[in-house]
Formats: sequence, structure tokens, C-alpha cells
Amino acid sequence: MCGIVGYIGYRDAYPIIMKGLQRLEYRGYDSAGIALFDGNQINLSKTKGKVEDLRNKSERDISVNGTLGMGHTRWATHGVPNDVNSHPHYSNSGDLVIIHNGIIENYEAIKTELKKRGYVFESDTDTEVLVNLIEEVKKKEKVKLGKAVQIALNQVVGAYAISVFDKQKPDEIVVAKLGSPLAIGIGDKEFFIASDASPFIEFTNNAVYLEDEEMAIIRPGKEIKLRKIKDDAVAYPMIQELQLNLEEIEKGGYEHFMLKEIYEQPRAIKDTYRGRLLVDQGLIKMSGIDDNLEKFLNANRIIIVACGTSWHAGLVAEYIFEDLARIPVEVEYASEFRYRNPVITSNDVVIAISQSGETADTLAAIKLAKENGAFVFGVCNVVGSSIARETHAGAYTHAGPEIGVASTKAFTTQITILTLLALKLAKEKGKFSESKYHEILTELENIPSKVEKALEANPLVEIIADVYKNSENCLYLGRGYNFPVALEGALKLKEISYIHAEGYPAAEMKHGPIALIDEQMPVIVIATKKGHYEKVVSNIQEIKTRKGKIIAVVTEGDEQVRDLADHVIEVPETLECLSPLLTTIPLQLLSYHIAVMRGCNVDQPRNLAKSVTVE
Ligand code: AGP
Repeated sequence: MCGIVGYIGYRDAYPIIMKGLQRLEYRGYDSAGIALFDGNQINLSKTKGKVEDLRNKSERDISVNGTLGMGHTRWATHGVPNDVNSHPHYSNSGDLVIIHNGIIENYEAIKTELKKRGYVFESDTDTEVLVNLIEEVKKKEKVKLGKAVQIALNQVVGAYAISVFDKQKPDEIVVAKLGSPLAIGIGDKEFFIASDASPFIEFTNNAVYLEDEEMAIIRPGKEIKLRKIKDDAVAYPMIQELQLNLEEIEKGGYEHFMLKEIYEQPRAIKDTYRGRLLVDQGLIKMSGIDDNLEKFLNANRIIIVACGTSWHAGLVAEYIFEDLARIPVEVEYASEFRYRNPVITSNDVVIAISQSGETADTLAAIKLAKENGAFVFGVCNVVGSSIARETHAGAYTHAGPEIGVASTKAFTTQITILTLLALKLAKEKGKFSESKYHEILTELENIPSKVEKALEANPLVEIIADVYKNSENCLYLGRGYNFPVALEGALKLKEISYIHAEGYPAAEMKHGPIALIDEQMPVIVIATKKGHYEKVVSNIQEIKTRKGKIIAVVTEGDEQVRDLADHVIEVPETLECLSPLLTTIPLQLLSYHIAVMRGCNVDQPRNLAKSVTVE
């Protein structure tokens, strides 16, 4: 989730852009850059680091004059964070400059073709490819920038919010959107461009939010020309008068980052499998795996090391890998693994899971595994993080920055990556039929819309939260694939509401925990139709007999559990191996609402840090 800001009008662009970039830093920053047109030339400065680093560098190195400019804070998806990979990017001629938020999936093929035509590239980014594709179209078709952008975008696959200008025609900026947000602030003889309204809300509250597959040619003093990218049809700008304040804009109108990130999960899961899950071709493409496939296929076992929520994602992966790919898996708390003198051999593959990519225990576990000859694969959300750099290979989740301390979209996107990996290995090992493989691929592609459906239970979950907000203890039960989800649900509740909560395999009740059951004990039971359903129903009956309060997460349409439980929250039906991606949603919402009702600091819970970089 990068941040983009642009300005064209009568004011000095530099201060507007720099302040706007600072306001967008919550969208992620590992590098930043700015391009200004001073009436004669484009002056461009960019650097790894924060916006403040960019301010120091640009004011030292370039002229910051000009009433036309664009700026960018990067949350890397392709190419590690460094000066060269930062945006803006020039075209080869130096006439065009672009900033981009999104992922161009087919950039490698386009890059190969452009290289054949003599284009050279200095960065590893998909964005530099896009600006040179636009330049090639402009030259070859002898069209203006707007038309060139439109033709070029009809050749790319992926998600984008872009802003481009041409120093040969400095009276306009061209913008376009598909999948990533882009707002146009409308002033008097001036226009602002940004990922959200926070950079321009102090100048104007009149804004147009581009729809997907729309583009605009913006010229000060003229009407915005809005076009459909596909067919050049005229689109009519719907000007909104914004009532949001700055803080509300950063949270996307949600009260907390955690709630915003819970609701971002459909988009985050889709972005994570974008370009990797190719259902029509029956393919799973992940370079970190494709280049090391033999290591995975010949591994004696897979050892997963992680902490907290990432460890829970690893536990889900154990069920998936062993069930589908028949590969032995051990899941280890990194903090234990690093000190217990584990047996590790060169036939082991270690998978390290970490949202931040900076967790000290996980980093230490990786180093221990490497010292003992294991191949180490990382699943991280932060490009260029310590863990991403320490592992031999890896795959990034594309969840975007996770600001809330309690991990939510990190959990579901980690499971998405691990599911893709398990499916790829199961297919390679011939562990299931083509039809079963295709069934799971198709269902995985449908998961984002089913997460959307699961989120519709939010109002009901809020009502349930109000009933149990003053509980002192809580039990979470699940079986099979949903046992790790029970653990994760308990962690969510305890870390943001400070209510003591424990997760158990449902069958473990009779081995002790059932002694805790009384009418004061809410028990959240994951009782979806797939996977030992009848046995979970018996567990529910055992709890009911002892007057426990039952909140059941069930498959939509379930009537049997509805007759037994005190509350029922429905999730759409899906395959058992994908059910954690849905059953976790109501548990995230439940912990969120209870914490809010208890007046807790949801985004920064007491005693916790977003990244535990110390032992
Ligand atoms: C989960 O909600 C917590 N924020 C915490 O358990 C977290 O998952 C753990 O610290 C691991 O962090 P990582 O994924 O960044 O390595």
C-alpha cells in the first residue's frame, strides 16, 4: 500500500507534496521520492527511508521550485527498498515520470519486449516498466500522453493507481486507477492527487474518487476529462463534498486501524494470491518456491518457526501440508526452538513466518537452522525486512502495512501463502486428483468474497460482545483445521481486551478444562459443517449440560447447533482446508468489539509492541 501525492496549479508544489507524503506514511514507507517540474526540467529526488530523509536529501540536492509535481511513499512489493527502486521513475527519454501504487503482474513479459526494443532499466520495479511502455506507445502510435496511458493500461494485468506527467506538456497530469485507491482534490484553478484525501483536505473538501478502470486528464482551469480505460467512453466525475477529518481519513473512516485491517482482508488475500494463483491454467506461480522446488520435494520434514499469531498460522499450515501434501511438519515456537538444541539436518526445510520480519526469536531460529544446513524459506509482510533478507528464499504476503498491534490480515494472508505452497507441493507429489486440485484452487479464489460475507455478521457479533464484555474468562474450542483458529481467537481476545482466554482442541475438554465450565464461562466453539462436526456437537452438549454459555461459529444454514447454542454466528460454507480463512473473521470482530466496549486501547494494547525485536 504505497502513498501517492500530486499537485498541479498555481502554488508551490513542494511543500504541499511533502506534507501530503507525511500524512500518507501510515500507508507504509520504506522509501520515498518526489519529482517537480520547474518550468524547464524535471527535478527528481528519491531515497530509501522515511519522508523526513527525502526532505533532507531533496532540499540538499535539487531545486524544489515548480507548480507541478508528484511524490510517493513506497511499501515495496517488487524490488527491495533502496534508492533506485524508489518512485518516481523516469522513462528512458527522461520526458515522462510516473508514480504507482499497486502490482503489475505481467511486467516481466513487457520488460523483455521493451528490452528487445532497446529500452534499458535501472530498477527491479514493475513501475519503471510501465512508464517505458507508455513511452513506447506514445512514440509508436504518435499519440498524446493521455491516449498513450490508456493504450498501455489495456496491455497490463494487475492493480494500479498511477500518476504520470510529460515535461514536454507540463500543463497536465494523467491519472488512472484499478484496484488501488486514487482521489482527486478539486480546487480553484488547481488539482490535487492522492491515495486518500488527507494530503489535500486542508485545501479543498471537494473530491472525485476514481472508479476502477477509470482515468483522468487533469489541467488547471479546465474540467477534469474522465475516461473509461477499456473503451475510452466518457465518464462523468461525481464530485463529493468530504466531511471527514484527518484522523478519520487515515483510518479509512473506521474507528481503529484494527477494524480497518479486519475489513481489508478480502483485498489483502486477493493481493496476496494475485499473479500467483492462476486457476484457469491450473497453476501456482511463486518464484521463491519454483526456484527451490526440489528442496521442498526432497525434504524429510518441514519445520515451521514463528511466534504469536504467526505461530498459529504455522499450525494451520501443519494441517494443510500433512493433509494435502503428506509432508511431515513440526511447528515450533521460535523462542523455544532457538534454545532447546533441536535436531536439524540438511534434509530439513524450515519455514519462518513473520508479519514484521523483525521478530528477534524468529530471526535467531533462522540463524540456528542455517548453521545446521537447513534450507530456510521466509513468509513475511515487510519487503526487505531482516527475516526476508536472512532467509534463503521466501514469499511476501501483500497485506499492506498492519498498523494495529493485534495481527488480523497478517494471519489470513500468511495462511493464503502457506495454502498455495501446500497445494503446489501436493500437486507436484501427485497426492491428489486433478479435479480435487482444481476444486481447491477455485474455492481459494472465491475466499475473498466469502470473507466479505463473513464480515456481514459484524452487527450480530457486536450484540454478542455486549453480552460478554464483562466476562473474566473465556474458552475457545475447535477441532482439526480450526483448533489453531481457537488458539488465535483466544490470543486476540486476551491481547486487546485483557480478558483471560484459552484455546483448546474441543476433545480436550474432558481432560480437565470442562471443570471450568459454569454459567459465568462463555465458550466460543467453532462448529462448521466440515471436519468432525458431530463430535463438536457432542462437545457443545457437554458444555450445555454444565450451563456453559455457548457462542458457536457455524456454517450458514446450520439449524442443529442453533438449537443448542446461546448464540450462533454464521460463516459461508467452504472446503475444510480453507475454513480457517473464514472462521477467524467473527473471532477477530468479537475481540475487537469487546475491547472497545471495555475502553481498551485497541490499536496499542498495554505492554505490547507491534514488532518484538528483543528477546
Ligand atoms: C498477534 O496479534 C501479536 N501481535 C503477536 O503475537 C505477533 O503475532 C507476534 O509478535 C509475531 O510477530 P511477527 O509476525 O511480526 O513475527
